[in-house]
Amino acid sequence: MTLLEIRNLSVRFVTPSGVVPAVNDVDLDIGDGQCVAIVGESGSGKTQTLLASAGLLAANGLASGSVRFAGAEILGLPERQLERLRGPGIGYVFQDALGSLTPHLRIGDQLAESLQAHREVDRATALVEARRMLEQVHVPDAAARLGQYPHELSGGTRQRVAIAAALMPQPRLLIADEPTTALDVTVQAQVVDLFRELRTELGMALALVTHDLGIVAGLAERVVVMYAGSIVEEADTSRLFRSPAHPYTAGLIEALPRLDDDTDAPMRTIAGVPPPPGMVSAGCPFAPRCARRSERCSVDSPVLAAHGSAKLACHHPATRGGTA
Ligand SMILES: Nc1ncnc2c1ncn2[C@@H]1O[C@H](COP(=O)(O)OP(=O)(O)OP(=O)(O)O)[C@@H](O)[C@H]1O
Ligand code: SF4
Ligand SMILES: [Mg+2]
Repeated sequence: MTLLEIRNLSVRFVTPSGVVPAVNDVDLDIGDGQCVAIVGESGSGKTQTLLASAGLLAANGLASGSVRFAGAEILGLPERQLERLRGPGIGYVFQDALGSLTPHLRIGDQLAESLQAHREVDRATALVEARRMLEQVHVPDAAARLGQYPHELSGGTRQRVAIAAALMPQPRLLIADEPTTALDVTVQAQVVDLFRELRTELGMALALVTHDLGIVAGLAERVVVMYAGSIVEEADTSRLFRSPAHPYTAGLIEALPRLDDDTDAPMRTIAGVPPPPGMVSAGCPFAPRCARRSERCSVDSPVLAAHGSAKLACHHPATRGGTA
């Protein structure tokens, strides 16, 4: 069953210099228990797509389209209804873990409150649950942490606490935005193991934003690639890694470090930079950086279309579908 169904989602921001588009016509499905990863360079619209889907856009953000959760429309719902839905429906781990915790509240109080907001439990029971959840996310010395404030914790522990807070009401869908970026490699691996474990134990669906394609390969069944606010390719993970069709996806995978890399050689990157928001010219937004571009690409914007079980927006893909 489709748990989250996003259709034609667009996000615009009202800024002093005018209305700036950030997300364009995104369609995305996440099934019950499924893990979907969203990848793409900085500014491609990953965070705003997910914030809009959970009704958490900044005050100057405007979302249009449709977001259905468990069959019910949630875009445009009043804040009070969204709050009720968020805990047990959608849990959110924000890109900035420290910012997502309340600085003046002890960890125990924050976790207990996030449970009590959604379930009729007394404080003592909520604190027992909080401790159990900290243990489940492998926070060392969980009992002592309950009495500490966020600034007293290391980055890795804070990240686990933010994950624990989102998990307290046992959400059907966890949205985790760059949950490992601030962590060292060992802790990153532990967080990945934790997500794998939680998905198995709780049957939870996961929408994961990450720059780390290694984490994508280890966790996600499906990958969505975003560029300049739009989805350019979507496919099952193994297929996407094996035969990326969009030149941008191919570039991202090509840029991955390999064991046999010459350590003195410059890092492989995709030449050029994405267009600033609102400055996308006619044709394909990736054209100025694309080695496969033709004249058609500069005038005719490719539309995301189904190719078997995958989706692709490119006139001359590297492999499956298209006209190359
Ligand atoms: N409150 C805001 N007002 C104006 N523009 C905004 C606002 N929030 C985000 N944007 C713009 O929306 C665009 C998409 O941002 P988004 O945060 O979704 O990027 P991202 O793909 O998550 O990037 P990163 O990998 O750096 O987190 C960016 O150009 C960003 O500057
Ligand atoms: S449409 Fe053209 S420019 Fe755009 S990614 Fe495909 S080949 Fe490159
Ligand atoms: Mg982001």
